[in-house]
Amino acid sequence: MIAENAALAFAWSYNDNDQEFSLKGSLRPQKSDELSLCMSELEGSVAKVSGKFYVNVRRLVRMNNVAFHALACKILDLVRERADLSIHVTTSSVVGWATRKFAVLEAVSDKITVSEYDSEFYPGQTFLEEGGFIPILRTQTKLTWHHERTLLADHGLKPDMEVADICCGIGDFAVLLQKEYRPARLVALDHSRSSLDYARKVAGEFGVRGIDYVFGDASEMLLESDQFDFVTCRHSLQVFDRPELILRELFRICKPGGRVYVTNEKNSHCLGEPRAETIQKTYNEVARLWAHFNMDIELGPKSRRYLIEAGFDDIRMESFMVTNRDGNPQDFADIIQSWENVYAGQMAVQRGDSEEEIRALRKGFQDHIFAALHPKGYAGWPVWVASGRKPA
Ligand SMILES: C[S@@+](CC[C@H](N)C(=O)[O-])C[C@H]1O[C@@H](n2cnc3c(N)ncnc32)[C@H](O)[C@@H]1O
Repeated sequence: MIAENAALAFAWSYNDNDQEFSLKGSLRPQKSDELSLCMSELEGSVAKVSGKFYVNVRRLVRMNNVAFHALACKILDLVRERADLSIHVTTSSVVGWATRKFAVLEAVSDKITVSEYDSEFYPGQTFLEEGGFIPILRTQTKLTWHHERTLLADHGLKPDMEVADICCGIGDFAVLLQKEYRPARLVALDHSRSSLDYARKVAGEFGVRGIDYVFGDASEMLLESDQFDFVTCRHSLQVFDRPELILRELFRICKPGGRVYVTNEKNSHCLGEPRAETIQKTYNEVARLWAHFNMDIELGPKSRRYLIEAGFDDIRMESFMVTNRDGNPQDFADIIQSWENVYAGQMAVQRGDSEEEIRALRKGFQDHIFAALHPKGYAGWPVWVASGRKPA
């Protein structure tokens, strides 16, 4: 259902399966009467269910006080009228006011609960946001930049472009981009406040100016459409259970004729000599571990298909191997150590692996480090780079 009035550019829908009533758009009525159709449909939907009913406002970008009061009063009336009913309100942290406003309802009635969608929706989010990833990302970017510095130009990046780095993490890549390519504008977006704080601190310390760090949900960005000449999204499609939703957004914010550039991994292709066998075993298990949390660390070679299906043309794709020969082998070893800490130390534990399984998982990481630091050893981590053009 879509409201016609421009000031009420919002829509609602009801999903019977999930017992969920969703609102999206901009809800700014002058008088509460203007919402009467929506409110009576909400009431009608609630009448069909028992138990828990969900009101989802996470896609509501704007809402004035008139609308909030109408909705809040309706929700309170509904739980008061029906002993068997409880209501859960889902907000989004991207729209800062929403959680704050709706949280008041929790205090008024114990039959109302409120949660932020973003912090619960992405299965791997907790690992990414707890800070454990910071050392991983730091060391990874240090070594991948060695390859990407020039690859980016092959994929169409030039100075003075308008650039966005979506899922920017701790911002190291944005800093390197800013120094090397001098974009006319650089927006770096992520969903982790701690990573963004860190990114701002690093940029400040290094005296790097001009990067606009913004908090946002990559699957529903508040950035305008058709804005950027070059959009990067590195090592991140692989952390979402539905990467096509992110790609749709990357496509949307890219200018027609501009390019979207993604990098992803295929961890089961990590390799090392000596001790190839235990190394292989561990990385096969890493792929299963990520899959357990609905993430796909094997996504790299699938990027081409994802880009084509998202509507891009002129796809360019290649892979490079980060190795212990790229620079200081200790840097490579540091990446592997940070993987072991998070994958074996946190994710496997959360999956419920036994001590023996965790020991076996750790063994392959340690053997990979051994191969990296061995005077005659070789250790590699493959990365897939792909970019596509948004048709003009
Ligand atoms: C594996 S990290 C990659 C970070 C960075 N691109 C890099 O290569 O160093 C994935 C990033 O995606 C971010 N992320 C996860 N879900 C997100 C979402 N819904 N919206 C925006 N960023 C998100 C995480 O906070 C994390 O910084």
